[in-house]
Amino acid sequence: MHSVQLKDKTFELYLNAESIQKEVIRIATAINQDYAQQPLLLICVLNGAFRFMGDLVTHMNIEAEVAFIKVASYEGTQSTGNLTEVMGLNTSLTDKHVILVEDIVDTGFTMAQLLQKFSEQKPASIEVATLLTKPECLKADVQPKYVGFEIPDKFVVGYGLDYDQSGRTLNGIYAIKQ
Ligand code: IMP
Repeated sequence: MHSVQLKDKTFELYLNAESIQKEVIRIATAINQDYAQQPLLLICVLNGAFRFMGDLVTHMNIEAEVAFIKVASYEGTQSTGNLTEVMGLNTSLTDKHVILVEDIVDTGFTMAQLLQKFSEQKPASIEVATLLTKPECLKADVQPKYVGFEIPDKFVVGYGLDYDQSGRTLNGIYAIKQ
């Protein structure tokens, strides 16, 4: 599929499923090496990161605890900057090595706020793994340790990412047609 229509917008294929899987495997391999000797907690930031998290764990061969949080900051195709926690965390971070698993870092406000909030629980370490970043849009001081793709300032959907709740089930990533 080279283009898809979601509600009022058209999206064109930007990253195919094969190239996404290649990057996910590369990141999973790096995490296997980096955390081989350490107790690891992976926190999936819902909804967008559910596919990245699932595939990441599929390719990991070390033991890890998994947890999920749900936050919302986007309306349509715009980040509002205001983070609402829709579903909280039900595990302690204290003394654990933590990786926040995110679909995309755009302005970085979501990750910056979560990192600040979670640091209060004194984890042994806390890092970010994100499938995508938009370096041109970054406003907060966030430096993800693991990044799949750096992309330009385009609104994208697919592989977990949505436009108004549509597009999450696409296996590739599609960019909005201007
Ligand atoms: P940030 O706080 O601006 O970094 O935004 C991060 C959140 O906004 C992500 O977790 C996504 O849910 C959403 N987001 C940012 N860019 C896109 C995009 O291009 N498509 C879909 N969702 C996006």
